[in-house]
Amino acid sequence: MYIVSDFSFRRDLSILKTPNFSKQLLKWYSKNARSHPWKKIKNPYFIWLSEIILQQTRVEAGTPYYLKFIETYPTIQQLAKASQDEVYSLWKGLGYYSRARNLHHTAKTIVDKHNGQFPENYEAILALKGIGPYTAAAIASFAFDLPYPVMDGNVKRVIARYYGYTKDVMAAANKKELQLLLDQSFNKKQPALFNQAIMDFGATVCKPKSPNCQACPFSKTCLAFQQNEVKSIPLRISKIKRRDRYFHYLVIKDDKHILFKKRQDKDIWQHLYDFPSIEHDENKQLSLKVLKGFVKEYTHVSAKKADILVKGPKSQILSHQRIIARFYTIYQSDLKSIAKENDLDLVQLKNSSSFAVPKIIDWYLKDNSISLFS
Ligand code: ADE
Repeated sequence: MYIVSDFSFRRDLSILKTPNFSKQLLKWYSKNARSHPWKKIKNPYFIWLSEIILQQTRVEAGTPYYLKFIETYPTIQQLAKASQDEVYSLWKGLGYYSRARNLHHTAKTIVDKHNGQFPENYEAILALKGIGPYTAAAIASFAFDLPYPVMDGNVKRVIARYYGYTKDVMAAANKKELQLLLDQSFNKKQPALFNQAIMDFGATVCKPKSPNCQACPFSKTCLAFQQNEVKSIPLRISKIKRRDRYFHYLVIKDDKHILFKKRQDKDIWQHLYDFPSIEHDENKQLSLKVLKGFVKEYTHVSAKKADILVKGPKSQILSHQRIIARFYTIYQSDLKSIAKENDLDLVQLKNSSSFAVPKIIDWYLKDNSISLFS
């Protein structure tokens, strides 16, 4: 028995004893299910792939990637055998490359340590790299019909609104209470259906902004709606502090080629491609003196102000950092020897789009605005 007396939300908890939530949800789902290619399948490898892709990506954007991945790597063995560059190249455009790195790593683990068989219980699934409680519950329920409810941002929102949960849903201290509410609402007999239904419901009706409360089957029982609190629930107080970092990139190119640098350090964007760079702690352009030294270090050329083109600043937000980048472009004729001497990759501009690059580098490659150094 749970002690619920100190909960500060206002739902009469006797409602938890009724299976109404699940019953109504499944009824809604029977008429409104979205059709997605990863539904109604039991292949844990495909389900895992879809969930990793959908973690930070909208369904519309993620679907073509999912289809591309299962076509290129129809089995986990094929994914395990691929090179990291190949996997990254297929992932290009999705961002958060650590997902691709963990995906590849875990495919190899499953082939090497699990005989190529996806683990079939929740704990073993959760033990895999890149798989947290949400993804483990999704795989366990969708592939193996195990009774684990998924809790992601969508689900938190639905549950918090339905039960009028006014506390911060981001706070670790409130996790247990939300989990309890979800557990009590869950349908253990139809875990896959319930999980899929609550995700679709959160994505299409109980949306973060402008939820469709008029078409909602819970409009009579949803406390947030009844008490006119839909806009303020869920309360999300994020404690994430982002650190600003200022990157200065030296782009060396000619009319047909560009020099990339593969990132090796244990820092952001490991194994992705960008350019030679220096990092400073001030949000301003490099001085001409520093820039000249930077150019000389790579090219042995004494650059003049007029040789340098500038682009930026352009920023990219990561989970715990904000990168503010400036690009200094210089045209050179002997790229081959510069590449060799500095361990850079000489890439044809027409092929540059097949390299896995951070978003900010993609922006540089696609944007044509450029100005003289001043
Ligand atoms: N978002 C994350 N996983 C999903 C799924 N299985 N179906 C729809 N949306 C999702």
